[in-house]
Amino acid sequence: MSSKLIAPSVLAADFANLQRDIEMVNQSEADWFHIDIMDGVFVPNISFGMPVLQAIAKHAKKTIDVHLMIVDPDRYIKTFAELGSNILTVHYEACTHLHRTLQAIKAENMKAGVALNPHTNINVLEDIINDIDLVCLMSVNPGFGGQSFIENTYSKVQQLKALITRKGASTLIEIDGGVTNKNAKALTQAGADVLVAGSYVFKSNNQPETIKDLKAIANS
Ligand code: DX5
Ligand code: ZN
Repeated sequence: MSSKLIAPSVLAADFANLQRDIEMVNQSEADWFHIDIMDGVFVPNISFGMPVLQAIAKHAKKTIDVHLMIVDPDRYIKTFAELGSNILTVHYEACTHLHRTLQAIKAENMKAGVALNPHTNINVLEDIINDIDLVCLMSVNPGFGGQSFIENTYSKVQQLKALITRKGASTLIEIDGGVTNKNAKALTQAGADVLVAGSYVFKSNNQPETIKDLKAIANS
């Protein structure tokens, strides 16, 4: 079994000390940087945009996993590629022509991800799963860090894992929202491959140790 990955969400970092927090992740056992881009339209919040991602990418030494919570993401695919994104995830709920969007992401040499809101059934991916590198299951309603984990996520992970296996796909399952040491093991046991953690990592007293422990729990 391949090892389970930890992706700290930079949304919870100290923006006045961004370089310090990026270096902490670089030096830690974390695997990816998770970057939340919000437009105030698809979600009721605005996070940060291109200049901040550019600053992050300048210092980040690990995979940059960009989660777009924006309407009409097709407009910015090329821009996010140029900014150094390695994985670009769009919301199922924001894409009328999802197949086309995924091909456009791959044409820019990025891995293509699809995020599902808590209310969206995984069955909508039945006919597209083989084209998806990563499915991001939202375990909170997108828009804010620090919310509590929605328990229904466990059954969605199991259903998604079954779909991926049945279709012979190599899609990774990422969980985003409310991840802590309390739910990490149950999530990876249910089939999750990547755990995003924002507040749990950045609000802790010893961030590298928290990342290390979370990774150990996820892989236990
Ligand atoms: C929510 C974002 C998440 C968020 C996770 O809209 O997509 O990535 O940063 O934060 P925590 O881990 O605090 O729930
Ligand atoms: Zn996210």
